[in-house]
Amino acid sequence: MNNSLAVTTTQLTKVFSGKEIIRGCNISVQKETIYGFLGKNGAGKTTVFKLLLGLLSPTSGKATVLGLDSVKDNIDILRKTGSLIETPIFYEHISARENLKLHLNYMKATNGNIEEALKMVGLSDISEQPVSTFSIGMRQRLAIARALVHKPELLILDEPMNGLDPMGIKEMRELFSYLVKHEKYTILLSSHILSEIEKISDSIGFIVDGKVVEEITPEDIKIKHHTIEDYFMKITNGGFKNEKTY
Ligand SMILES: Nc1ncnc2c1ncn2[C@@H]1O[C@H](COP(=O)(O)OP(=O)(O)OP(=O)(O)O)[C@@H](O)[C@H]1O
Ligand SMILES: [Mg+2]
Repeated sequence: MNNSLAVTTTQLTKVFSGKEIIRGCNISVQKETIYGFLGKNGAGKTTVFKLLLGLLSPTSGKATVLGLDSVKDNIDILRKTGSLIETPIFYEHISARENLKLHLNYMKATNGNIEEALKMVGLSDISEQPVSTFSIGMRQRLAIARALVHKPELLILDEPMNGLDPMGIKEMRELFSYLVKHEKYTILLSSHILSEIEKISDSIGFIVDGKVVEEITPEDIKIKHHTIEDYFMKITNGGFKNEKTY
């Protein structure tokens, strides 16, 4: 594998109940960059993330993450990555700090920094409160803290901006940029906020019906396709068929 790549997939394919959900998917994520993954509901973003983390096995094809095979080396991949996939689950009756401590124990991580992670996501002041008292946005912040508390090399974040207020979105954008520029992180994230992906990403992969149809820089989207929204609507056919009734 090319040493400058953090993630690469080759003809990655996943079949569920006889249906090809991921179809010969090829993506390449350069180290120390932010890669935005875009696609409409059901396109296959979460499934690709689960395949990368070894939470699902491919039907055929291959995924390599930090030089490791997603199937054979999935435990090592989980140690070296931080992830947020779908709705995060916490121990509700204990504090944010205790949740992060348990996570570090579970990961057998020795170099974690709970205080730093809480500070990075703006939860220091309420870190002693039970998680059951947290709002959706506070939970999302805690999920991001959990993804990075063990100081991984790669973050795989499925819709990390979900539930965050405008200030939270800006703070997380700045945090992600900081981690890539100064802490040598690589970040692969999905979002439905096109403008956010455009602002934050060095490179963007578009997935349509389980196939990545283009990997492109935000600059090239502007040059070739005018706006990211125009391009997204064009390649996804503007949404679900027969949806509009007005
Ligand atoms: N375990 C499963 N069994 C059967 N089908 C599945 C399974 N997991 C996902 N799918 C199907 O795979 C397709 C892709 O789902 P996925 O969750 O990856 O989409 P997504 O791009 O993350 O969508 P969203 O933007 O809504 O989160 C969907 O049609 C979904 O129904
Ligand atoms: Mg999803």
